[in-house]
Amino acid sequence: MNKNPSLQAAILYDAVALGLKNKKIGRYNLRYRKKLKKFMEHLPKKGSVIDIGCGFGLEAAYLKRKGFLTYGIDVSSESIKIARQVNPNLIFIVDDLLNLEKYKILNPNGIHEHLSLMNLPKRSIKKVLGSIYRILPKGGIFQSSFEIISDNKTGWHRIKTDKNNSIYYYLSFYSLPEIKKVLSSVGFQIIFSSVGREEDKSSDIFTVLCKK
Ligand SMILES: C[S@@+](CC[C@H](N)C(=O)[O-])C[C@H]1O[C@@H](n2cnc3c(N)ncnc32)[C@H](O)[C@@H]1O
Repeated sequence: MNKNPSLQAAILYDAVALGLKNKKIGRYNLRYRKKLKKFMEHLPKKGSVIDIGCGFGLEAAYLKRKGFLTYGIDVSSESIKIARQVNPNLIFIVDDLLNLEKYKILNPNGIHEHLSLMNLPKRSIKKVLGSIYRILPKGGIFQSSFEIISDNKTGWHRIKTDKNNSIYYYLSFYSLPEIKKVLSSVGFQIIFSSVGREEDKSSDIFTVLCKK
């Protein structure tokens, strides 16, 4: 199959966002307060953060409420439209995680991501984590989470949108040691990791917090 994982992620999450139109996104409650608190503990007060693969900007909005200068980046322009509507005071950018290097200009003290790196093929993970490392200053913090599914299958997946149509999307599954190894290889120091259920019990995830 000759498809581009970033483009397919945009198609999938655009469709999700369009399906949400006219519905309240309130039901997509923030699920990760505990995790975000841990992230914030390691950041300077009123520092700046980027939420990469921010979706509708729920975590970005939370970080902004806590006093951080916050940016959100996502490849799905329809998700970003919703994020901008719900959070007009925040800066949201439509872009691919493969292009992060240029955002050094935003001087982030921290970078956060939740289940977005999973949409990249494994061959890209070292490059993207390397870019994240390079755009952070010395002491900068990165937090990342991955879903754990028992019958996980790295590769192309398909979701039926109606009787005749479906969308293909890519998912990469990792173990915690596997991700720690890549993070260390690009230069990060791991300061904390956890494995557990999300606060709304929707899925099992592991989270890694690391420092440049
Ligand atoms: C599972 S959703 C998570 C959204 C949000 N982080 C949250 O936790 O609610 C994955 C998000 O990653 C974004 N994404 C996937 N691949 C991407 C890529 N290559 N570049 C930028 N964003 C991407 C998708 O558009 C989607 O919004």
